[in-house]
Amino acid sequence: MKLLHVVGARPNFPKLAPVHRAGVRQGVSQVIVHTGQHYDEVMSEGFFASLGIPVPEHNLAVGSASHAVQTARIMERIEPVLLAEQPDWVVVYGDVNSTVAAALVAAKLGLRIAHVEAGLRSNDRSMPEEINRIVTDRLADLLLTPSLDANVTLRAEGVPDAQVGFVGNVMVDSLMFTLERERIAPDAHGQWPDDGSVLVTLHRPSNVDDEARLTGIVGALREVATERRVVFPAHPRTRAKLASYGLDTGAIVMRDPVSYEEMLGLMTHAHVVITDSGGVQEETTALGIPCLTLRPNTERPITVTEGTNRLVAEPAELPALVRASQRGAAHRIPEGWDGKAGERVILALQRALSGAGG
Ligand code: UD1
Repeated sequence: MKLLHVVGARPNFPKLAPVHRAGVRQGVSQVIVHTGQHYDEVMSEGFFASLGIPVPEHNLAVGSASHAVQTARIMERIEPVLLAEQPDWVVVYGDVNSTVAAALVAAKLGLRIAHVEAGLRSNDRSMPEEINRIVTDRLADLLLTPSLDANVTLRAEGVPDAQVGFVGNVMVDSLMFTLERERIAPDAHGQWPDDGSVLVTLHRPSNVDDEARLTGIVGALREVATERRVVFPAHPRTRAKLASYGLDTGAIVMRDPVSYEEMLGLMTHAHVVITDSGGVQEETTALGIPCLTLRPNTERPITVTEGTNRLVAEPAELPALVRASQRGAAHRIPEGWDGKAGERVILALQRALSGAGG
């Protein structure tokens, strides 16, 4: 079996790592294509090094551009690679522009597509990732889901059960692997040491591209920062927007983006996390750390129904919610978030291929 993995943006990398590792263990032939959607050292190469992913065989170096231009560039540049490599599976991850662009090209070339993290829906088409999720799932031959609610969603959308496989959450594989390697461990009572800080990550266009919205968020975070240490490693797009709107971040500790290991260190020690990231919603649930998600909806509802996540529509609610946040609230770890999802992805790909007569 030959796999061609396509990744491009920061959240793809922890999803690829455990699948690639499991593929190596099973002696699978694998090729990695990096589209170059993210290209800063700390957003890209640093993650490859942290996660033990080999240097990609192909880098399409598409860089930043409008959605249309970025997607089109990926499509143009990946077509000859797919034609030359002729994999048994094109494996795409998550919901970024690289995911949908690769799926569209592979589908037209008649190559089999597997989507890791299928079936998530925010039901909010103003979110670019929602368009990417819907289109990728329509095109994929094998839809591998991170949680069982995603199977229910895909069935309701009419996807045949035979095309859907529940594998669990590959992000949690990377989380567990890295915590163990870095010796980041809970105390004797199974608790993560709470340093009282508030960790913030925000980069969604709906939060940072609107001046009034971002001004409200910064105001709320500044208020929180009068009571607790607030640490905010800012994505480049967030940094740029803060500067262009001339916003004063006051006592908030602004940081450049941090490495994967450092992020997990900050997260395990935080009293509460404020985010709009999908991955951080999952990681906090896996760790049992309280999370306030600054969005009206989530494509990962299991982090709310079973985990430690809470949706917050209005930034002004944050100071009171941070005050009310408590460590150790009752929660469950969703099924399949066990560190073995990468193995199950490889198994599902092998089974589906032999079923297809490949
Ligand atoms: C992308 C994904 C989003 C994911 C996020 C994680 C899409 C539609 N969005 O959003 O789902 O949650 O990655 O980070 O695919 N920039 C740099 N250096 C980089 C990359 C980006 O400076 O390495 C800056 C550029 O100014 C760029 C801006 O960040 O214009 C936004 O980057 P882009 O890739 O368009 O989207 P993200 O916001 O990163």
